[in-house]
Amino acid sequence: MEHIRNFSIIAHIDHGKSTLSDRLIQAVHIVADRDFKDQILDTMDIERERGITIKSQTVCLPYTAKNGKTYSLNLIDTPGHVDFSYEVSRALASCEGAFLLVDASQGAEAQTLANLYLAMEHNLEVIPVINKIDLPSADIERVREQIEDDLGLDPERVILTSAKEGIGIEDVLEAAVNFLPPPKGDPDKPLRALIFDSHYDPFRGTIVHFRVFDGRIKAGDTIQFMSNNARYKVEEVGIFQIVRKPRKVLSAGDVGYMIAGIKTVSDTSCGDTITLKSNPCDAPMPGFRESKPVVFSSIYPVASDEYEDLAVGLEKLKLNDSALIYEKDSSAALGFGFRCGFLGLLHLEVVQERLEREYDLSLILTAPSVQYEITLNDGEVMIIDNPSLYPDPSNILMTREPYIRAAIIVPDRYMGAVMKLCLDRRGINRNYQYLTRDRLEMIFELPLAEVIYDFYDKLKSVTQGYGSFDYDILEFRETDLVKLDILINGERVDALSQLVHRDRAVERGRRACEKLKEEIPRQMYKIAIQGAIGAKIVARTTISPFRKDVTAKCYGGDITRKRKLLEKQKKGKKRMKMVGQVEIPQSAFLSVLKTE
Ligand code: GTP
Repeated sequence: MEHIRNFSIIAHIDHGKSTLSDRLIQAVHIVADRDFKDQILDTMDIERERGITIKSQTVCLPYTAKNGKTYSLNLIDTPGHVDFSYEVSRALASCEGAFLLVDASQGAEAQTLANLYLAMEHNLEVIPVINKIDLPSADIERVREQIEDDLGLDPERVILTSAKEGIGIEDVLEAAVNFLPPPKGDPDKPLRALIFDSHYDPFRGTIVHFRVFDGRIKAGDTIQFMSNNARYKVEEVGIFQIVRKPRKVLSAGDVGYMIAGIKTVSDTSCGDTITLKSNPCDAPMPGFRESKPVVFSSIYPVASDEYEDLAVGLEKLKLNDSALIYEKDSSAALGFGFRCGFLGLLHLEVVQERLEREYDLSLILTAPSVQYEITLNDGEVMIIDNPSLYPDPSNILMTREPYIRAAIIVPDRYMGAVMKLCLDRRGINRNYQYLTRDRLEMIFELPLAEVIYDFYDKLKSVTQGYGSFDYDILEFRETDLVKLDILINGERVDALSQLVHRDRAVERGRRACEKLKEEIPRQMYKIAIQGAIGAKIVARTTISPFRKDVTAKCYGGDITRKRKLLEKQKKGKKRMKMVGQVEIPQSAFLSVLKTE
């Protein structure tokens, strides 16, 4: 264990985490240079394009230090978005240390701090790194002062790097060896290993990623997951070096993987503890939480003959995504589809993008909703997340909605703006405290329904990107809900209905009608859009008919030109859905939730 170091790199987005990780991998020569693809850790296309890490990947770096000894440096990558904060916490729980990366020209930013606090919560040894020192705008002295004054870290420890130019890479590896503590733990105690991730391999099934805290694990062992007592026979254990490298045994302090005939990743849970059936440990690792979807939306194919492809796509995605849940759903307006549950909006968007891109589908998603707990007059309690299942209001005794505890960290000059944003969202300010001279942590209790759509974007915009946001689900609390329906030419479109707080219903109805007016293109006849609560119309707009004939200006002469124009129109139509007589574009279904 003396020769193991387990650590993460934490940083604000774009400060160079992936680039530095790549350099560390290159420096220890586990991948031939000619095979080296930049940003090897972020393997999914979407991650690469959006530049965010969603699925963490781990790599074991074999490093011979200046002291002549060889070390196993386990770099545990963490996802970088609030939807995945539980996964981040499990990855950090598997580390003893972290490098906190700060951009030399930007200095510490919101996420730098939020990540630092997370690392401190896990008692990690934190080493500051100033990256991008090659930039002409780099201000190393200013950032060094910030590290001391604002972050409270030792400025003597600062490592200077340019991940881009490969400067300071060895200093990072040496610091891991010299300043990060080796893992503690007892290889002779019963097995106790923490799962921090898993992924699906089409040939081997689920690959479980874990850190061993005590004991040993090897092929042939029968292991047991402590959350559900499921048992499996271990086929293989090993370490990650971009590819999997099998090992005879993994023991206390090691980070690696296990293959054990586990069919889908849903059979494993991040944060669960692995032990041996024959000799179990007495207590699981602390902090286990089942990851539950909190945002629900229905997905429909634009073309109904793509339903089967959608089913196949979801099934495949599910193999690798234990947080995604889905079941069959149908709508009068949209036909057959699936009701899906997600960890948050980013998760929803990632699933949508992957389905559209990898399975070539064109999809409609209905307005996301949280789950509501409804008590009926006869005492029956139902949980619903789909407005179409909302019971007749006269049968409802009480409705309750989920609340969250939000922790928002901002420079204090944004305090007023954040306060306004949260109060506007029915939030209650519970507490605030200064973390440093000019940074505040503000605690709010908010209805989850008010944050699922665009809260994070709004927070970023009112704080010019400096606000960080993290949340925990609290409990269900009593609320006053109504179902807001949208009628198009007098017809109720079930897929556009939403459940909203009574105080907001009229305003929401008005906004939704305005948004739909913007989204739905003019058609040959007048379209009336109405918002209704029960039989009462609360808002209305109309779209006046479309008069111009697009082909008229082609004079009937040039037939190819005419055809091109029609083709172009057809493409534009691909993402439209006929609802009754009216064509509604894909984007309209989500637009009804927009608040401005
Ligand atoms: P996320 O994965 O989104 O968290 O971003 P990241 O922190 O991994 O940042 P990434 O490594 O993708 O780097 C962001 C940008 O900064 C890229 O364009 C890099 O090429 C650039 N970059 C990274 N390190 C350096 C550096 O040392 N110098 C300069 N000039 N640019 C760098």
